[in-house]
Amino acid sequence: MDRHSRTAVSVLALALALLASCSRQTAPVDHIPDGYASWRTTTKIRLDYPIPGHEDRFRIIHMNDLGFSFSRSPVGVSFPIGTTIVKQVFATSSPAAGEEPIMLTAMVKAPDEPLSRGGWLWIVKDLAKGQETVFGGDFCYACHGNANEAHPYGDKNQSEEFRDYVFFVPGLDGMAPGAVTDAPASPR
Ligand code: HEC
Repeated sequence: MDRHSRTAVSVLALALALLASCSRQTAPVDHIPDGYASWRTTTKIRLDYPIPGHEDRFRIIHMNDLGFSFSRSPVGVSFPIGTTIVKQVFATSSPAAGEEPIMLTAMVKAPDEPLSRGGWLWIVKDLAKGQETVFGGDFCYACHGNANEAHPYGDKNQSEEFRDYVFFVPGLDGMAPGAVTDAPASPR
């Protein structure tokens, strides 16, 4: 892990610790419905390479059907209100068949919510505790601003199209339509 990644990891740990310490003031929330794991995935690319903030943990991104009706215009990509994107994060880079994720990070399009940033609620769910935390600060939102500029992931967004803060927009991950990866997109 490079120095930048290490910094991002410790920032995430710190942010989680801070949020945990004030969790008593946070009303219980539940934005991630059961059954999210059966939603379609946003990319077939195998996400097991290191990204800042996640080390090289294996990840799978699911999105509800509503999100797949996103629009694309000269202004850029826009996801409808109610879009829910859930990223499963596993303990290691190659989980065993049937292994459960340890954590979920999620984005819910809800521009009217006071805690939304860039039109999205930014959520982390600790699966061991069953507890969701909404990140009201700029931590998640600031890094996801990179999705709207050229970045190192998927199709790399070299035209700097506005992507509504989403790195992996379906069909815009640089893979040929219908392409099949050697590696399965899921540990199962
Ligand atoms: C340092 C940069 C960085 C930070 C901070 C970050 N993310 Fe991400 N996030 C990424 C990258 C890169 C991806 C692309 C998918 C992958 O490789 O996991 C991603 C993907 C996602 C996705 C799937 C949608 C997409 O953009 O493709 C969700 C949901 C998500 N992140 C939620 C969060 C939440 C919630 C937080 C704050 C707790 C957060 N992220 C903080 C970099 C970041």
